[in-house]
Amino acid sequence: MFINNITLKDFRNYEYQEIFPKKGINIIYGRNAQGKTNILESIFLCSAARSHRTNKDTDLIRNDQKGYYVQIEGKRDEQPFSISINCDKVSSKTNKRVIKVNDISLTRTGQLMGVLNCVMFSPEDLTVIKEGPSERRRFLDILISQINPSYFYALQEYFKIIKQKNALLKNISENGRNKELLDVYNIKQAKTGYKIIKERKIFIEQINKKSKINHSDITKGSEELNISYSCDLSDFSDGEDEFYRMLTKSADKEIKIQNSILGPHRDDIDIILDNMSIKEYGSQGQQRTAILSLKFSEMQIIKEKTGNNPVLLLDDALSELDLLRKRTLLDKINTNQTFITCTEKRKYMTLDSNISFFSVTKGTVKSI
Ligand SMILES: Nc1ncnc2c1ncn2[C@@H]1O[C@H](COP(=O)(O)OP(=O)(O)O)[C@@H](O)[C@H]1O
Ligand SMILES: [Mg+2]
Repeated sequence: MFINNITLKDFRNYEYQEIFPKKGINIIYGRNAQGKTNILESIFLCSAARSHRTNKDTDLIRNDQKGYYVQIEGKRDEQPFSISINCDKVSSKTNKRVIKVNDISLTRTGQLMGVLNCVMFSPEDLTVIKEGPSERRRFLDILISQINPSYFYALQEYFKIIKQKNALLKNISENGRNKELLDVYNIKQAKTGYKIIKERKIFIEQINKKSKINHSDITKGSEELNISYSCDLSDFSDGEDEFYRMLTKSADKEIKIQNSILGPHRDDIDIILDNMSIKEYGSQGQQRTAILSLKFSEMQIIKEKTGNNPVLLLDDALSELDLLRKRTLLDKINTNQTFITCTEKRKYMTLDSNISFFSVTKGTVKSI
């Protein structure tokens, strides 16, 4: 799949910009803070319905403006497609977002999942290793949602249940009322939660298999990477029922602390390098390589599951590599349309003939 048009209106530092990327490699270059990452962000947004670096849509609206508009056109299996997102500020706190695919408004955000498959490689990726479990769940959720929209719906549903259940726990704890309702929520939580757990388990096993190979490739066999699922549920054979039993057992504790303490919203992924936690013991370089292995796995899984090569977004991701490693990497991804941001185009000029260049200066893009 590939993108051949990007239109930005009042998005980040772009007032109005059209960009016409090519198949192959698109190098977006310019000095710092000119708007290079903003372009990749707009592509990612049309893929995942969320930015890769903020949860607030308001951040994406150009300063002092009332809304943004992003449109992407491309081809998938030779079929043209278009995606547009229009976001308007309704009040200081709320925005109204309309997402269209092929000019038809979506009734649910989940319908966008899988229309445009993207994998982003960015400096923020290191948070997947360095930060808390929520970053690792986010990585997993974005990947699985792209391939399986019903997973995205299950997640939305699950968070609604947790929110309502937490309100109920508070009410029971403070007023002693409605305790009989808790069981209803536990049944719902077990049902939807187990759908999520099941998918995560399958995906983590696939990621593990692939990352092992990728990591061994990149490190020439000198390091061994292991990814495993850390989940409250240990017995997966009896999944939903087992989860329900655990919830019932913890009911008094949950009421006491007024919070849901068990379930996939607390899951984590353990990333182990040579039998040690990479988060605590890995060097910066080892952590970066592990992320690269994970991202390559993401790319391969998308390709296997959808039959399409995802669009790759490499934000400053190659700048630290020497020419040889860059070339090895580019060889690995040569069938994907790729966007690479960098500050110096010179370093790429000798690499490949199939490269298009775009310069970015203060929110204006020029094709070179
Ligand atoms: N909502 C916004 N409105 C206007 N400008 C913005 C907004 N968000 C970010 N910017 C500007 O965008 C620039 C950063 O863009 P970015 O794409 O991250 O830069 P880089 O070229 O270094 O990747 C900065 O100049 C920043 O002030
Ligand atoms: Mg940047």
